[in-house]
Amino acid sequence: MKGIVLAGGTGSRLWPITLGTNKHLLPVYDKPMIHYPIATIMAAGIREILIVSNPSDLDSYKKLLGDGSEIGVQFHFAIQENPRGIAECFIIAEKFLQGSPVCLILGDNIFHGSGLGRQLMENTEIDGAQIFAYGVSNPSDYGVIEFSDEGVPISIEEKPLEPKSNFAIPGLYFFDNSVIEIAKNLKPSPRGELEITDVIRNYMDNSKLHVSILPRGTAWLDTGSIQNLHDASSYIKVIEERQGSKVGCIEEVSWRLGWIEDSNLESIADRYANSPYGNYLRHLPRSREFGNDLK
Ligand code: DAU
Repeated sequence: MKGIVLAGGTGSRLWPITLGTNKHLLPVYDKPMIHYPIATIMAAGIREILIVSNPSDLDSYKKLLGDGSEIGVQFHFAIQENPRGIAECFIIAEKFLQGSPVCLILGDNIFHGSGLGRQLMENTEIDGAQIFAYGVSNPSDYGVIEFSDEGVPISIEEKPLEPKSNFAIPGLYFFDNSVIEIAKNLKPSPRGELEITDVIRNYMDNSKLHVSILPRGTAWLDTGSIQNLHDASSYIKVIEERQGSKVGCIEEVSWRLGWIEDSNLESIADRYANSPYGNYLRHLPRSREFGNDLK
């Protein structure tokens, strides 16, 4: 299973903040936004990750993330020339995927919950598609999925004005490799995009769609608007200060999964010098006994 983190788009809902920088480089409390989705798919055991972004922003991601070897993963980079829709990323990723199934995570989606990594690991052998549903108060802002009384998915709509359920589809998806052909055969929607919901509907129509409802104990936040970005920062601040551990720390995820050693963690910490982030990494080996959600 390989991973894609989609980090392009215009970020227009955050203008003027995103006129000079890419949205997914903005801070969500104490780290860049893109660290959170990367940490989530790493926790699912995914080590080969393609970052897709705009031509003008890709170098910033290379500078931020490097090639990944320091944290035991491989980062690859690809350009989306124009924001022609989420589903275009599968066409862009065709060579990278080399026939492999894929986990796509949107660069502005943050997930947090105990045992989530373990739950996601179960999807790495996939036949068809695996998506998630999450009860929200504002389904019209998202892709919305409707279930029959027997719990079978029966309709999927992108940002419906009159949603048929309150189940939104979060930006975390697992697909088998046929997703590339499905994406290639999509027609742009009325708003001119290759829609991820059209991909999912194709799997549903062929009875190859699996949907799990994310438990209420899992937090799903998206950071696409000013309000949401602020809320996400507040959420991360409260959790981190209360628990004394970080959310979305990619070095920690790698270390807890056994992909890097204590000594690697120390070298990375030294590079971050005396910043709170560096100090946190430096002290992690001493807190090993305090449980490990990821193994
Ligand atoms: O957050 C989950 C929702 O994400 C889903 O429920 C919807 O079905 C899905 O369409 C999407 O809705 P959004 O309105 O949040 O999509 P947005 O245009 O904001 O793009 C989501 C992320 O993908 C964002 O980080 C930018 C990136 N993106 C988007 C497009 C359209 C790209 O990198 N390239 C693109 O062409």
